[in-house]
Amino acid sequence: MISTTLDWITQKKDMPSGETVKSAFGSFWMQSLRALVVFLSLCHLTSGYSERDRAHDLMSRYPLIDGHNDLALQLRILHNNHLSQIDLHNVSKVATDISRLQAGHVQTQMFAVYVLCGAQQKDAVRLTLEQIDLVRRMCTEYQEFELVTSAQELKNSEMKHKIGCLISIEGGHSIDSSLPALRMFYQLGVRSMALTHTCNTPWAESSAKMYDTFQRQNNSLTQFGKGVVEEMNRLGMIVDLSHTSWDTASAVLRHSKAPVIFSHSSSYTVCNHSRNVPDWLLHELKKKHGLIMVNLHSTFVSCRAEASLSDVADHFDHIKTVIGAESIGIGGDFEGAVRFPKGLEDVSKYPALIQELLQRNWTEDELGYVLRKNFLRVFEEVERVRDQLSLNLPSEVQIPLVEVQNPCRLVLRPPHPRGLPSNHKSSSRAEHGPPGLLILATVLLLSSLFLIE
Ligand SMILES: *[C@@H]1O[C@H](CO)[C@@H](O)[C@H](O)[C@H]1NC(C)=O
Ligand SMILES: *[C@@H]1O[C@H](CO)[C@@H](O)[C@H](O)[C@H]1NC(C)=O
Ligand SMILES: *[C@@H]1O[C@H](CO)[C@@H](O)[C@H](O)[C@H]1NC(C)=O
Ligand SMILES: [Zn+2]
Repeated sequence: MISTTLDWITQKKDMPSGETVKSAFGSFWMQSLRALVVFLSLCHLTSGYSERDRAHDLMSRYPLIDGHNDLALQLRILHNNHLSQIDLHNVSKVATDISRLQAGHVQTQMFAVYVLCGAQQKDAVRLTLEQIDLVRRMCTEYQEFELVTSAQELKNSEMKHKIGCLISIEGGHSIDSSLPALRMFYQLGVRSMALTHTCNTPWAESSAKMYDTFQRQNNSLTQFGKGVVEEMNRLGMIVDLSHTSWDTASAVLRHSKAPVIFSHSSSYTVCNHSRNVPDWLLHELKKKHGLIMVNLHSTFVSCRAEASLSDVADHFDHIKTVIGAESIGIGGDFEGAVRFPKGLEDVSKYPALIQELLQRNWTEDELGYVLRKNFLRVFEEVERVRDQLSLNLPSEVQIPLVEVQNPCRLVLRPPHPRGLPSNHKSSSRAEHGPPGLLILATVLLLSSLFLIE
């Protein structure tokens, strides 16, 4: 561009003086035309540059809080959680590492500690603990990261130029229908939980119909499910409705005392995928001062395998029209999904999205809210509700055994000496006990005979 301009100036200067008036006149028009072309392309280029600069500048002032990232899952799949074998500054085969988070102005990342639905009724709790251990290690062994567990810590981490790590459970199967387990996860730093993933839990319903476990009708949030929401309100844990069925989401919105989020979902009107949120539910979300953090995965964005930046921006525009910019955030879903729009391939590309929204006349003020202020507002409100409930004792509500139907649940009772049937009258279904319990009792008895030193 600069060399074109210089070319033009040089040519003008070098115009031979002996030319006829006519040719000088023609050349004047030629040169005016060239000047115009150069001027227009300069305008185009400078405006392009300044929009890009504006996006980066805006994101330096309001660095992103992103709602969803599955790096921990990929580290399990690709590296069996051997954190020592990789350098998180630069990780191949994934879209997330420290270098790219920094380039993308990602200031706080909600890291999911997701375990597969296949682990429900099996070792989901252990696997979740292992994923929490992994995120905690990531976020303490690298000085660029900092584990954050409150809105204030999140804000502090920005001032220290750290990437804040929030831990979020993705799928209620992780707590194995146990409020004490939920409370212990909170103690380990978990500050958000999606009530389901693609499987129903015994107490809440998923948007996916791929598993036939815990199917139910007209009971999308059971009495125990309401107890989970109440306990999350009491603890100050953000309820995440991404992946739940619309009925469940609606029931939670009626029941929750605190605002809730969809950490990684988009608009159903723009792309009618069951993971997306219809307008009527967006209105309920807004009434509760909640937040929808738009998912960037191509399939949810365009309902096709391929998507563009413009397709993503359509979701933002639509949701803004329906419930306003104050209800919108960003939840990329990197590492949790495989295909992302052209120009948004990894976490370093967020500025391209902000640039697209600036070009669509979103104001810097609106984008400041979308990038971080909306999430901070919700998090602070969740903490305020927790403070209001601080006199409530931990809930001792337990799920009825008939609702969990879980053969892995041990019903605690003293093993009878010599393994003979107990004289006690059995008072519940579970006390009849599966043969496994008899075997366990026998093993315990034998080990007490032979193994104790
Ligand atoms: C990351 O590592 C790859 C090789 O593994 C290298 O080509 C690339 O330049 C590195 N990127 C950064 C930002 O260090
Ligand atoms: C579903 O349950 C609600 C209240 O629990 C009841 O008012 C409604 O009629 C039920 N709907 C159906 C289809 O059973
Ligand atoms: C989604 O929209 C497409 C066309 O846009 C239509 O063919 C399809 O039937 C719709 N699916 C549902 C579940 O509404
Ligand atoms: Zn997900």
